[in-house]
Amino acid sequence: MSFDKLMNKPAGKSANTIWHRATVTRQRREQKNRHKSVIIWFTGLSGSGKSTLAHAVEEQLHQYGLNTFVLDGDNVRQGLCSDLGFSDTDRKENIRRIGETAKLLLEAGVITLTAFISPFRAERAIARSLIPHGDFIEIHCFCPLTVCEQRDVKGLYKKARLGEIKDFTGISSPYEEPKNPDLRLDTDLLTLEQSVHQVMSLLRDRNILPVVE
Ligand code: ADX
Repeated sequence: MSFDKLMNKPAGKSANTIWHRATVTRQRREQKNRHKSVIIWFTGLSGSGKSTLAHAVEEQLHQYGLNTFVLDGDNVRQGLCSDLGFSDTDRKENIRRIGETAKLLLEAGVITLTAFISPFRAERAIARSLIPHGDFIEIHCFCPLTVCEQRDVKGLYKKARLGEIKDFTGISSPYEEPKNPDLRLDTDLLTLEQSVHQVMSLLRDRNILPVVE
């Protein structure tokens, strides 16, 4: 094996780059913030409640005085990922960018909540593999397709059934359910408050929330 490979240095177009070590580290930021950073990765069908839940959890954490940020599929696709569509290749690239962005925010000491369909197991596994063990919490917002379709908040399922939108998740593009998520929430059975409560309990169990003195 080559030296560069052993040192985990990038190949290809980024080969001639050298990592600059920051003196202000994640650990120092966490000490200053008085809380840990973590990635909370919500996955599920369109309309399963990912964004609503991520923002509701963020609201709670913000009220506790913690540093947070939500990366939301529809929003990120209007900026950073506005060049991407919904083919398998584009979705993979979407999730790769989000994984890397979430990693930067983790280093910045931020509790990062991501709300993307992220339909492929392999891409979610890659995103997890970028992050130190235990700092990536996967939450499956489970809601039956029939319920998401009935809700059809954005009117997209109807368009997908009519063939006006192609590659639509659950209709004409696959969704691979997590086999072993950190938490599964049946969002059609739980109230929003109950779901928020379960996420907060998990964060407490994982020692993410600061101990109140
Ligand atoms: S992902 O598959 O690449 O993770 P992402 O979460 O960023 O998807 O974007 C999903 C959102 O884009 C949906 O909530 C919906 O509002 C919108 N959307 C537009 N076209 C599609 C499509 N073909 N499949 C799924 N969602 C779509």
